[in-house]
Amino acid sequence: MDKKKLLIRTACGLGALVLLGPSWADDAELPPFPKELLDNAEYVAEGKEVFGKICKFCHGKSAYPGKAPKLNPPRYTPEFVYDRVTNGFRGMPAFQEQFSEKERQAVVTYVLSKDFSN
Ligand code: HEC
Repeated sequence: MDKKKLLIRTACGLGALVLLGPSWADDAELPPFPKELLDNAEYVAEGKEVFGKICKFCHGKSAYPGKAPKLNPPRYTPEFVYDRVTNGFRGMPAFQEQFSEKERQAVVTYVLSKDFSN
């Protein structure tokens, strides 16, 4: 991704941030998601494990219908996914306590990677 596209994506992420309200605004510890991180095979592999252990239970193909939305990564910015995983949202639990920042970053890179399937 070139710098301009990255800037546009970041700007969209910030727009979502404002729309999503106070839970976002209060969250000071949002890590950056540079391209090198999103392409990092070690993170993607670790994220795949986290996804298989936890997220699949609700978002996987075999989760019963209606439990959670089917994930649609092309619509997401890394910041959006990180926020959902960290802070939760309505029926989506928060995983800030359960997973380290690195594990949460890893699952974001996996969801946005070409390896992702659910
Ligand atoms: C206990 C069930 C459950 C688990 C486990 C779970 N989720 Fe969710 N998730 C949900 C539900 C329900 C929603 C929909 C929340 C809403 O918008 O009302 C959701 C929404 C999301 C969204 C936003 C989807 C969208 O298109 O708006 C993302 C991204 C997401 N989850 C990622 C994850 C990841 C990554 C994990 C693993 C760390 C995970 N979820 C684990 C239930 C779960």
